[in-house]
Amino acid sequence: MFRDFPLFPEAASTIAGRVDALYFFLIAVSLFFFLLIIGLLAVFAIKYRRRREDERPEQVLGSLRLELLWTIVPFLLSMVMFGWGAVLYFDTYPPPPDAMNIYVVGKQWMWKIQHPEGNREINELHVPVGVPVRLVMTSEDVIHSFFIPAFRIKMDVLPGRYTSVWFEATETGEYHLFCAEYCGTKHSEMIGTVYVMEQIDYQDWLTGVTAAPRSMAEEGREVYDQLGCGTCHEQVDGARGPSLRGLYGSPVELMTGEIVVADDDYIRRSILEPSAEITAGFAPIMPTYRGQVSEEEILRLITYIRSLSDGEGGPGLSPVPARGE
Ligand code: CUA
Repeated sequence: MFRDFPLFPEAASTIAGRVDALYFFLIAVSLFFFLLIIGLLAVFAIKYRRRREDERPEQVLGSLRLELLWTIVPFLLSMVMFGWGAVLYFDTYPPPPDAMNIYVVGKQWMWKIQHPEGNREINELHVPVGVPVRLVMTSEDVIHSFFIPAFRIKMDVLPGRYTSVWFEATETGEYHLFCAEYCGTKHSEMIGTVYVMEQIDYQDWLTGVTAAPRSMAEEGREVYDQLGCGTCHEQVDGARGPSLRGLYGSPVELMTGEIVVADDDYIRRSILEPSAEITAGFAPIMPTYRGQVSEEEILRLITYIRSLSDGEGGPGLSPVPARGE
């Protein structure tokens, strides 16, 4: 529907059809009541016009039937909108478990993107068609918003935390990418292009002219070594800090007895505010690394820590050496 209508964006993701259906329902309901009100206004203006100078209309003091009608009908309609919207949201918000991650850092005024294989791009996003892609996003400065109209996705990108959004592109081609949150003088220039490629072409792109020398996890390992993380987080009993192997995605018991899941946000907080959440059984000795690592480096560290749990780091990534090696 509206595929060739110039003002309507293309539909190029798996959720686009369902989002459009709800959108058209809202438009249809609004249009119906708009026309009904305009129509009644015109009809009543003519039908009940004053015909004589001394004409006085009959007072209407209320109508229970009318009150019930215009209370119940809008109530039911708004509940349909609520239910439909809620089902759509819960169906489409969580990423499929097999989604591939791509990392996005927004800053005034550009989008910096890195693929797990290490490839970096600015204001461009290359993705394969027919593969669910999850974007893990944060901002270096102010609030931005990552918006791809053709995929019907828009998610705010906030400093100090991760937000994520996912999509599965259904059509190859080039699509607009916008920042949809006013973020300063050049907000309108914070735009880019999404390239949806055949899966084989995407593989070629990853390993082609733009090929990255190292994967994100390997770069993360380099940051890990530079910062000396291994001094405390060794994989042995009696180490000063908890082991990072198998940490990603697993529950962690804190000193307070609270259990938290070691997700992206938890690892980021642990690097920047280590004393906020101390793992049970360890002393609060870790210094903050705020100011020493960029948002992009933190994402690489997270990817490295994640690779210690699921082997995502790829071949050639040696494990953290144990003490004494
Ligand atoms: Cu970034 Cu607007």
